[in-house]
Amino acid sequence: MSWGLLLALCALLLLVVQLLRFLRADGDLTLMWAEWQGRRPEWELTDMVVWVTGASSGIGEELAYQLSKLGVSLVLSARRVEELERVKRKCLENGSLKGKDILVLPLDLTNTSSHEAATKVVLQEFGKIDILVNNGGRSQRSLFVDTSLDVYKELIDLNYLGTVSLTKCVLPHMIERKQGKIVIVNSLMGIISAPLATGYCASKHALRGFFNGLRAELVTYPGITVSNICPGPVQSNIVKNAVTEEVTKSVGNPGDQSYKMATSRCVRLMLISMANDLKEVWISDHPFLLAAYLGQYMPTLTFWIIGKLGKKRIENFKSGLDADSSYFKPLKKKHD
Ligand SMILES: NC(=O)c1ccc[n+]([C@@H]2O[C@H](COP(=O)([O-])OP(=O)(O)OC[C@H]3O[C@@H](n4cnc5c(N)ncnc54)[C@H](OP(=O)(O)O)[C@@H]3O)[C@@H](O)[C@H]2O)c1
Ligand SMILES: *[C@@H]1O[C@H](CO)[C@@H](O)[C@H](O)[C@H]1NC(C)=O
Ligand SMILES: *[C@@H]1O[C@H](CO)[C@@H](O)[C@H](O)[C@H]1NC(C)=O
Repeated sequence: MSWGLLLALCALLLLVVQLLRFLRADGDLTLMWAEWQGRRPEWELTDMVVWVTGASSGIGEELAYQLSKLGVSLVLSARRVEELERVKRKCLENGSLKGKDILVLPLDLTNTSSHEAATKVVLQEFGKIDILVNNGGRSQRSLFVDTSLDVYKELIDLNYLGTVSLTKCVLPHMIERKQGKIVIVNSLMGIISAPLATGYCASKHALRGFFNGLRAELVTYPGITVSNICPGPVQSNIVKNAVTEEVTKSVGNPGDQSYKMATSRCVRLMLISMANDLKEVWISDHPFLLAAYLGQYMPTLTFWIIGKLGKKRIENFKSGLDADSSYFKPLKKKHD
C-alpha cells in the first residue's frame, strides 16, 4: 500500500470520527472535549462563593443542587423568597453544606437600584464572590404584530439590563481581587433567532454582544473570565413563565416538556464549562446544535431552514402545542 493511500485513509477515518462525535454530541465539540479530558468541577469549584440568580426554579434551582454537592458557599437569588427557602432546604438535605453556607437573598433583577445593596450583603456574609451566575430571565411566546411594546421593554429590562446592572455591581470586587468568573446563561436564541420570541432573541443577542465586548476589556485581568453559556431547549418552567402579548400575561399551560434536555444534564455541562473557563458554550441536542453550527458558516442556508422550521413552530403555537414539540421528538436521545 502506498503512503498516499494510507494518508487518504487516515484523513477519511479522522473525518468519520469527527462526524460520529458530532452526531452523538449534546454540546459544541470544545465542550465535549472538556467533559472528556478537561478539568473536573469536583476539583475546580470547591470552596468558592457562587451567586446564582433565578435560583428558585428550573436551571438555577438545579444549579443550586449540583453546586451544593461540590461544597461551595451559595447565594440564592430570585423574587420569590419562599421558593428560595424550599431550594435551600433541599440543598441541605443531600449536600455537605450547613445552613450558614447558603444565603437566601431575594432580588428583583428589574429593580436595579437594589443591586448595590444586595452585593454588599453578599460580601458582608462571605467576604468574596468567586462566581456570579447571571441566570434569572424570562422567555416569550408571541408574534411581534400582536405584542405590546411594553413586552419588549420588560424583556430588555430583565434579561439584558438586569444582568448588566448586577455585573456592574460585582465586577469592581473581582477586579480588586484580580479573579472571578462571570457566567451568563444565554441561549441558542442569542446566536440564531426563531419566530415567536423576537424580544427574547433581542435581549439574548444583546447579552452576547455586551459580554464579548466586556471580555475584551478585561484582557489585562486574565484571572477574570466571562463565560457565555447558550442552552437549547431544556426542561424547566421557562415556557410556563414565558411572556405573551402583554407583560402581565404568561403562557401558563406549557404542555409536554419531557422531550427537552434533562435539566440535570444541562447543568452538569454548565459546571464543566465553568471549571474550564470556556468563553462560549452551546448545550443542546440536535437539530438545534446542528442549526447553531450551520448558522456560523452558512447563514443563508440557515435562514432558509429556520424559515421552514419556524413555519411549523408557529403552527404548533397556534394549535396550542409547545412551539418546539413536533420536529424535536423523533431526534430525542437519552443521556441519563
Ligand atoms: N429552559 C430552556 O429551555 C432555556 C434555554 C436557553 C436559555 N435558558 C435561560 O435559562 C435561564 C433560566 O431559565 P429556566 O429555564 O430555568 O426558567 P424558569 O424555570 O422559568 O426560571 C426562571 C428563573 O428566573 C427568575 N426570575 C424571573 N424574573 C425575575 C426577576 N424579575 N428578578 C429576579 N429573578 C427573576 C425566576 O424566579 P422568580 O420568579 O422567583 O423571580 C426563576 O428562578 C434564563 O435566563 C433562560 O433564558 C433557558
Ligand atoms: C436527595 O436524595 C434523594 C435520595 O437519593 C433524591 O431522591 C433527591 O432527589 C435528592 N435531592 C436533591 C435535591 O438532589
Ligand atoms: C427597589 O429596591 C429599593 C431598594 O431596595 C426598594 O426601596 C424599592 O421598594 C424597590 N422597588 C420596587 C418597585 O420593588
